[in-house]
Amino acid sequence: MDFENMNPVKNPKESRSNGLSYQQLLDTDSREVPDVLRMQSSRDLPFVRVPIDRYTSQAFHDLEFEKIWKKVWQFACREEQIPEVGDHQIYDIGKLSILIVRGQDAIIRAFHNTCLHRGRALKDRPGRSLQLQCPFHGWTWNLDGSLKQIPCRWDFDHVKNEKTSLTEIKVGTWGGFVFINPDPNAEAFEDYIGDLPSHFERWPLEERYIAAHVGRIMECNWKVAQEGFMEAYHVASTHPQMLSAIGDANSQYDAWDHFSRAITANMTPSPHLRKKPSEQEQLDAMMGVSLDGKPSMTVPEQRTARQTLGQLSRMQLQGLVPSVQDLSDAELSDSIYYTLFPNFHPWGAYNRITYRFRPLGNSPNQSLMEVFYLAPFRGKRPDPHPFQLLNAHASWTEAPQLGSLAKVFDQDTLNMAAVQKGLHAAGHQEVTFSQYQETKIRHFHSLLDQYVKS
Ligand code: FES
Ligand SMILES: [Fe+2]
Repeated sequence: MDFENMNPVKNPKESRSNGLSYQQLLDTDSREVPDVLRMQSSRDLPFVRVPIDRYTSQAFHDLEFEKIWKKVWQFACREEQIPEVGDHQIYDIGKLSILIVRGQDAIIRAFHNTCLHRGRALKDRPGRSLQLQCPFHGWTWNLDGSLKQIPCRWDFDHVKNEKTSLTEIKVGTWGGFVFINPDPNAEAFEDYIGDLPSHFERWPLEERYIAAHVGRIMECNWKVAQEGFMEAYHVASTHPQMLSAIGDANSQYDAWDHFSRAITANMTPSPHLRKKPSEQEQLDAMMGVSLDGKPSMTVPEQRTARQTLGQLSRMQLQGLVPSVQDLSDAELSDSIYYTLFPNFHPWGAYNRITYRFRPLGNSPNQSLMEVFYLAPFRGKRPDPHPFQLLNAHASWTEAPQLGSLAKVFDQDTLNMAAVQKGLHAAGHQEVTFSQYQETKIRHFHSLLDQYVKS
């Protein structure tokens, strides 16, 4: 095939880059490709521009808190982080603090992390306890939220046990993730996530464990941070070292109801390159950014770099993943990055990444980015890797459990505070998105707009 001149422009709305489209690349796979990767779902999305103050103003930040964070289903923790009776995690979002607890009946419940006496936060940190006792005066609840005891009960005759249960918050689970929704009138979780579980049927995330969990404070709005991970348009400028082994501008972007997807092929060259790199050059470029620091190797005669990496990954996943020989090169090589509105980013197939982004405290200018590596395992589930929090000036390489990808995150992070600075300094009113490559961001903003205007 002519490397330079695939996919000529038909009309501006359907403009695509030169080079192999993702679907054309799938035609070259050494295995049968699953239907989920053959799906394409484009939508008419309303915004190619949004006002800058959506990233900078306290008023918009406060509106998001009321209209989004208090209303949507959001990823709070992994089930594996609360495996035993009495295990609890705390999920803070803006002013809200939510306690997620495994009960005596093994059911996961969530409560406002607030004592019903004079309001102290019930728990300060994750842990395990067979009752929920406030440290201030000792009011105590059972794990199901029912009141257990009040010290000096004689002094609280006006407090009725049956009216003094902890305030419960809705919980949903999928893929080993626990979601909460603070809105008592929220739609059912299953309706909210829609078809997302069917996309992951071949790649069950509940059968993974937390091999790494690292957070970093970002000096930017939470949307600035997450939008840097929703497109491959920035690769050529921000990560030029990857171009020999990434089909950046040939990525496919799809949108459904509450979720969207991008697929960026690896082990295929960028259409930005003037000269097509050799198969060996592609493999070498990939090895430099590989998650696992895989050893360098030679592309055998009659094989492509993509097939070679696929075969290497099949060998590494042998015994960890069922039917590993049937997995396509695409599932073993490509970046398949989903976003469930508003802030949850699980990756498909056998890349281990899941991201979460959220505002930190009550500021439009600070956020928390978290990286989870969810890895398959054999036998007994390993304990989750402990959470590590990096400060706003740290390098991701201070978390060695992230492997060589930490250097790529550092490249991304360099942009973030500078974007926030630039947005505050702007002499114009709006940011501008591309028609196609920023589909996921435009899909996000169309949902954001619906929520804040509801
Ligand atoms: S504030 Fe919790 S027991 Fe008093
Ligand atoms: Fe990046």
